Amino acid sequence: MNTEALANTRIGQLVVRLLAAVMESRLRYRFFGPEEVLGGAGIHPGMTVLEIGCGTGFFTLPAARLLGEQGSLVAMDRMSLSVETVAAKVRQARLTNTCVVVGDALDTQLETESLDAVLIFGVIPAPMLPMDRLLREMHRILKPGGTMAVWPPSWVHRSIRRSGIFAYSSTCRGVMNYRRTACDPA
Ligand SMILES: C[S@@+](CC[C@H](N)C(=O)[O-])C[C@H]1O[C@@H](n2cnc3c(N)ncnc32)[C@H](O)[C@@H]1O
Repeated sequence: MNTEALANTRIGQLVVRLLAAVMESRLRYRFFGPEEVLGGAGIHPGMTVLEIGCGTGFFTLPAARLLGEQGSLVAMDRMSLSVETVAAKVRQARLTNTCVVVGDALDTQLETESLDAVLIFGVIPAPMLPMDRLLREMHRILKPGGTMAVWPPSWVHRSIRRSGIFAYSSTCRGVMNYRRTACDPA
């Protein structure tokens, strides 16, 4: 059974609702405010950015506002329910620079070297997201010198550094920032 089918079972829906409540909780807004965290990712107006695993859209709307009308955001999630929810929020907020899509981070179907930055917030580590495949795909879609921002910090830092296709550049407000290297993935 795939994740989407699992989420459509009764227990799955309960878990999804619980997770959404946690992700949108007041405590989370208070202690990990999205604007505060995004401020550590080095994104700025005019950039073209992909958000992996947009979930409830906790980071999506603030990121879209930060990028401004000259920038653009693709918010991706593999769960269609998340995509519908976030797309409705984006429409309601009249944000025209954001496209919310169903997609898999391991095979995004986005153009090669088309993005300035990727945000991976609250998504890794995850058992169903093999780091080697994820990093190869992020390397493919980022422009040369593009950046990948990962939050929260975790042990994945080691595997990212070891990959050789991303170089650690900084940690800011708990966000680990990496730059795409010119090395070809193995
Ligand atoms: C814990 S939630 C975090 C959501 C949001 N980033 C946040 O921090 O509020 C993780 C999200 O990543 C999505 N996700 C997991 N694996 C994915 C993949 N391979 N491709 C796209 N989205 C994925 C899940 O469906 C889920 O919505």
